Amino acid sequence: MNTQEMIGLCKQYTMYTWAKGEAVSPLPIETAEGVYLYTPDGERILDFNSQLMSVNIGHGHPRVIEAMKRQIDELIYVFPGSATPVRARVGKLLSEIVPDPINRFFFTLGGAEANENAIRAARLYTGRSKILSRYRSYHGGTNLCMQLTGDPRRWANEPGTPGIIRVLDPRPYDYSFGESDEEKTRNNLVYLEEVIQYEGPETIAAMIIETVTGTNGILAPPEGYLRGLRELLDRHGILLICDEVMCGFGRTGKMFAFEHGGIVPDILTMAKGLTSSYIPLGCMGLCDKIAAHFDSNVFWGGLTYNSHALALATAEAVIEVLREEKLVENAARLEEVMRREMDRLTEKHPSVKEGRCIGLFGMIDIQKNSSGEASAPYNGSSPAMAALAKAFRDNHLFTFVRWSSFMCNPPLCITEEELLEGFAIIDRCLDVTDRAFEG
Ligand SMILES: Cc1ncc(COP(=O)(O)O)c(C=O)c1O
Repeated sequence: MNTQEMIGLCKQYTMYTWAKGEAVSPLPIETAEGVYLYTPDGERILDFNSQLMSVNIGHGHPRVIEAMKRQIDELIYVFPGSATPVRARVGKLLSEIVPDPINRFFFTLGGAEANENAIRAARLYTGRSKILSRYRSYHGGTNLCMQLTGDPRRWANEPGTPGIIRVLDPRPYDYSFGESDEEKTRNNLVYLEEVIQYEGPETIAAMIIETVTGTNGILAPPEGYLRGLRELLDRHGILLICDEVMCGFGRTGKMFAFEHGGIVPDILTMAKGLTSSYIPLGCMGLCDKIAAHFDSNVFWGGLTYNSHALALATAEAVIEVLREEKLVENAARLEEVMRREMDRLTEKHPSVKEGRCIGLFGMIDIQKNSSGEASAPYNGSSPAMAALAKAFRDNHLFTFVRWSSFMCNPPLCITEEELLEGFAIIDRCLDVTDRAFEG
């Protein structure tokens, strides 16, 4: 089958996500290794987004593939009511790498199901029903997760389930006027407490946040926000759920992003980096007090593929690679290189408004004029951003271009040299948006 036939069949017989079928132009990929993808025609493409911000250890790691093969020979699947050696090992392993008091885990197929079960656990534990979430967020494609989601993917899925209250993030969408971290934290928490008061604190089960907002901006919380939020929610008996589906497993330079803020949530959700997407797996982690509640109360949730043996063996091998190859430390070390490159590009290219990163989790915003106006509107595109996306593709760099920004999220195994190679390509491509800059 040649490349065009392959693309034609994929488009004819399979549906693509979040898109009109006729508008889709799929990237043909045959193999992948480390930080590179290879097309059937032998083109090598640098993966600057870890696919869906998820292949944290890089592509095709032999040790993980070996572990998956071993598990296939031993045991692939048994029903969720079983005890298996791999389930025993991975439960214990997660309790070691996730900070206390989170020590009990429920396995799902992906991030959305982890969030669905986190909301279920919070509601059953507190006996309350409302959930707070933030506008700049994505929490998954199921009905409930679409309602938790603030970004425009929610709109076509409304009206959904009642009882979800969305609030603003600490960082305003148009951040040009600037506020100190301290002001952002204070202003947002004062506002949030007022929302809680109007909604009735005793009606709110939990607040769910992406600890570091991913797709909607790569926004690390301002200084003091996580501690302040934790304290505010505690005061009202509201649980904190950290969705670390994207920002967990080393992406931010720590194993979990909440570790930057000196807090631990009541419930943690994980997926993507948990298996580096080698196979689907998600997970909800519960703190001891909630876990104890479900020792004497039914947890009304279940899945055919809960605790799937092959998926768990994959997670075990991926976590071993992350730890032994010190990939979390690599992400922390290369943050400085990424930031330096972003500063250099901001200095050099008038169309670059700002670059920001935490670990190897980064984004660059593009402006169309010197007053900082975005090159493309919220939920829209522009000829300049479309041309930038084409330039990345023509220059053998894979990343996501979204609205007026683009992602810089390479696999955590990237070397400094490969990272610089990526930024050299970006540097060349930014001439496209500079040409559209209106001054
Ligand atoms: C922060 C966050 N939460 C949840 C999800 C949903 O995960 P999944 O697509 O595995 O259901 C995603 C997916 O991108 C995500 O980024």
